[in-house]
Amino acid sequence: MPRKAVISMLKTCDIIDEKNKKLRQISKEVIFPLTDEDKENIRLMEEYLVNSQIDELAEKYDLRPGMGMSAVQIGVLKRYIVIVHEVYDENDKPYFDKYIVVNPKIISNSTEMIYVEDGEGCLSINRETIGIVPRYARVTVEGYDMDGNKIKIRAREELAIAFQHEIDHLNGILFIDHIDPKNPFKGQDIYRAI
Ligand code: CO
Repeated sequence: MPRKAVISMLKTCDIIDEKNKKLRQISKEVIFPLTDEDKENIRLMEEYLVNSQIDELAEKYDLRPGMGMSAVQIGVLKRYIVIVHEVYDENDKPYFDKYIVVNPKIISNSTEMIYVEDGEGCLSINRETIGIVPRYARVTVEGYDMDGNKIKIRAREELAIAFQHEIDHLNGILFIDHIDPKNPFKGQDIYRAI
């Protein structure tokens, strides 16, 4: 009898916390083709992010809502990220735009800076934080899709922040590193709040 595939799901406790030193390491470039394990990791990351943004499922599976995740957050030091961005169509109906980028790199950015007014969040930071995180308002990201095809994404506003946040993770950087502890709201009057 053929063995049935084990259907697994990522749980909030599978996402490593800031206390874990791995989050401070630099992730390695991926060499194609992706391994089956990497493909499965990407599937799990995407599934978590989608479910976490659907209230009933987030509650049912006890998921913390999140829009992006980098492989290091599930303990894999490889350069790939997943972003699930909720957007609205012309009838105001929400849907998810999904981005899976391997070896992502910011190749250009705006001079304009923005920040999340309510404060940035991270699935690996499980405490209240205050302060603003200055981010480029627009970025162009280059990288590869899961098959190794080169892709280029132009992102603005919230999506641009998500890319900067996730790419930071691959370099061992957390959003809290961008906040000046002595003056957490520094730049508030200069940068645009979103
Ligand atoms: Co994060």
